[in-house]
Amino acid sequence: MTARQLALAALLNWQKDPQSHLEQHIKGNLSPKDLDLAYTICRGVLKEKSFLKATLNRYLKKDKLPKATETILLIAAYQRLFLTKIPNYAIISEAVKLAKQKSPAHASLVNAVLRNLDRDITEGFDPNKQDLSLSERYSHPQELIDLINEETKDQALTEQILIWDNAKPKTFLRLKNGGHEECLDVKAAVNSPEFKRGEIYFMQLWSQAVANAAPVKDGGNVLDLCAAPGGKSLALLDRAKIKLTACDLSEARLETLRENFARLGYSNAPNVTITKLDAAEADKHFPPNSFDLVLLDAPCSSLGTIQRNPELRWRFKIDQLSEYAALQKSILKAAQTLVAPQGYLLYAVCSFAKKEREAIDLLRQDKNWLLKEEKLTYPGEQNLFDGGYFALFQKKK
Ligand SMILES: C[S@@+](CC[C@H](N)C(=O)[O-])C[C@H]1O[C@@H](n2cnc3c(N)ncnc32)[C@H](O)[C@@H]1O
Repeated sequence: MTARQLALAALLNWQKDPQSHLEQHIKGNLSPKDLDLAYTICRGVLKEKSFLKATLNRYLKKDKLPKATETILLIAAYQRLFLTKIPNYAIISEAVKLAKQKSPAHASLVNAVLRNLDRDITEGFDPNKQDLSLSERYSHPQELIDLINEETKDQALTEQILIWDNAKPKTFLRLKNGGHEECLDVKAAVNSPEFKRGEIYFMQLWSQAVANAAPVKDGGNVLDLCAAPGGKSLALLDRAKIKLTACDLSEARLETLRENFARLGYSNAPNVTITKLDAAEADKHFPPNSFDLVLLDAPCSSLGTIQRNPELRWRFKIDQLSEYAALQKSILKAAQTLVAPQGYLLYAVCSFAKKEREAIDLLRQDKNWLLKEEKLTYPGEQNLFDGGYFALFQKKK
């Protein structure tokens, strides 16, 4: 299998199941270099899809192309427009080869379109100078751009977010001593003795900011209701000698959490309990007022993380926000009963959508709760990279 064959298969499989993670489709018996190329192409095509389509449309009639043909063209156009190290003739010949295998009826069309595009660019056509809508230029569905506009009420900030979403993401490590550093080589980090000894782990800066906002002290009884894969729980365990109950609804994600806990030396730790639980029913599992801190890192649209997860934009539906809001409200309703007097509830989402902070109105409107801190960031702001929101409340009695 070649890198482009894998990229095509992965993109077509992802299109069949857009709820799935792109990464899970990028698997094959390829050299690390080819696997990297397939990965870069897949992510790039999803980041630039509408822009590439608009550029290719100059050479296509209105007829709808089969998915395989369209995707082969997108893969080739992405390489031509965004990757500098692949010779143009190789891009075209690989695409035509792929078309002969997967959509032979369109192999000559693929050849003609890519040759025309290549010729035009060589003669000075600049795709960036096309007259395009924001949705085409930055490859975000209009529905999502409308939402971002509604949230920011600022055209320039909206455009900044769209640009940010398409930029190359950075990866960060949390150090066991609470510090952080940028990870420039993921493979080297994973193979490093520090990683194996659990002294560093991958954690984005926004997540670190949330974990750092949690008031923890030695002896504290902490409940993390949506804990998997465990990043914030682990940060809390590093910060103080707490008793931790980490829960999640997903057994598969709890399995990853257990692996992460084990690597950091917390397997069978007497102060850690791991439980599969529907957080909306948490009030039926634990006595009221029993935790000094409840962390509710709620399931959400993850709109603040599109830069790292380019496929998210294509499965965005405005109605999902109401569904998430309903789930967040039901979990918060159960969670707030579990906080002891003088204890804290930390609510967080990696989304900047207003709808996904409606849940906390329940605490804002209750005189028994005091808002101690809140933070809203749009993607790319405040050196936190992801966008998100958190609010820390204290229960009076
Ligand atoms: C934002 S992620 C949590 C990330 C985690 N706190 C960390 O820092 O690694 C949200 C989690 O909520 C879980 N979840 C979704 N619905 C849930 C529910 N009803 N009860 C408990 N967990 C749920 C998901 O499985 C997912 O692991």
